Amino acid sequence: MSLDVLVVGGGGREHALVSGLRRSPGLGRLFCAPGNAGIGRDATPVSIEAEDIEGLADFALREAIDLTVVGPEAPLVAGIADLFRRRGLTIFGPGREAALLEGSKAFAKEVMAAAGVPTGAARAFADLESASAYVQAHGAPLVIKADGLAAGKGVTVAQTTEEAEAALRACFLEDRFGPAGRTVLVEECLVGEEVSFLAILSDGQVLPLEPAQDYKRIFDRDQGPNTGGMGCYSPVPSFTPTLREQVIRSVVKPTVAELERRAISFRGVLYAGLILTSGGPKVLEFNCRFGDPETQALIPRLRTNLLQVLWAAARGETLPLEGEWSSGPCVGVVMASRGYPASSSKGDVVSGLDRAAAVPGVQVFHSGTASIDGTVVTAGGRVLTVSALGQSFAEARRLAYRAVAAIDFPGAQHRTDIALRAEQSEVSGKERRDGGPTDA
Ligand code: GLY
Repeated sequence: MSLDVLVVGGGGREHALVSGLRRSPGLGRLFCAPGNAGIGRDATPVSIEAEDIEGLADFALREAIDLTVVGPEAPLVAGIADLFRRRGLTIFGPGREAALLEGSKAFAKEVMAAAGVPTGAARAFADLESASAYVQAHGAPLVIKADGLAAGKGVTVAQTTEEAEAALRACFLEDRFGPAGRTVLVEECLVGEEVSFLAILSDGQVLPLEPAQDYKRIFDRDQGPNTGGMGCYSPVPSFTPTLREQVIRSVVKPTVAELERRAISFRGVLYAGLILTSGGPKVLEFNCRFGDPETQALIPRLRTNLLQVLWAAARGETLPLEGEWSSGPCVGVVMASRGYPASSSKGDVVSGLDRAAAVPGVQVFHSGTASIDGTVVTAGGRVLTVSALGQSFAEARRLAYRAVAAIDFPGAQHRTDIALRAEQSEVSGKERRDGGPTDA
């Protein structure tokens, strides 16, 4: 049987999904809406925006698409999966009710509380006065979160009560996030290493993926403003098999059971953003989709047939208990355009892509790119993710950065320390095994 597939979205995550589907036996035609310059080489582009869910359903019916795979959260929260299912189409992605785990942070906290999932203490507020009184009573540090989708910009880690008050005013008085900020969560500030742990759900069944770690700040050593993600690697050496089992037992399974108890179907990706505190792993946030740039570090490692897994989950069928993965790690370095994250630069010519792709083990995933008369130009903040597989973190980093050095566009910026910690822990682990120094 060969399956015709539509991928919805146009970033690095969707390019990675397209590449994973492209190498899956059983794939028929592959479309991506709207795609980008790089995706256009691997899938047929469809000029329908990801938010135009009616237009996408019409296209899927007209082309008799067998499976639609949704990348971004906005169409999921807008109900694309419900619409497709009503129209008899098969789609990978949760319906609106389940997608509210990402679309409403207050709802996610309520589900976690009911399921007994470990997470930071938080209160939801619908007006400035009571939120502000709570902030003054508790003192900083605190985390202020707009309840709804805010394109990754709705979270403020406030080190002082003044910063917390400013974040509350941005939501309630300045209306910076529109309806997404009319309810605000004030949350305890947790400390620890962050890990992204994703699982594919086919209603009650769970296929856990490998852990990944992303880098949110723009500059090396986690300096500067937050971004959509400046790089990623997988696996995460500090996330031991014991921790993984603990998270499956204490986070993923209870959440799935709570959704089942509420008769909420979930056929898609449950993404737990975790923080490894001294009191154990806790959930910072849930997302209802693949991560970006996590997917660009996970898909190159995946040996299981991606198409078959997504097809099975979309139909509520049996999933494998575990995926098969390359034993070697993958390191993904994001290249961003001039001015990012405050602004972005469009129309700058990107050169060196073929030389980068020729580096062994490297795949270049496009995010904000467009094609003008066959020339690739920048078209957004995050432009590319350069991912490399290696036998070790040292090798994967060397290959990824060799490919990054081959690519050029005016004002290009990237971090130089992606997966450096993992490489250092690999070196000190080897020295321990060899009986050498341990405090390198
Ligand atoms: N890497 C963060 C996200 O996908 O939301």
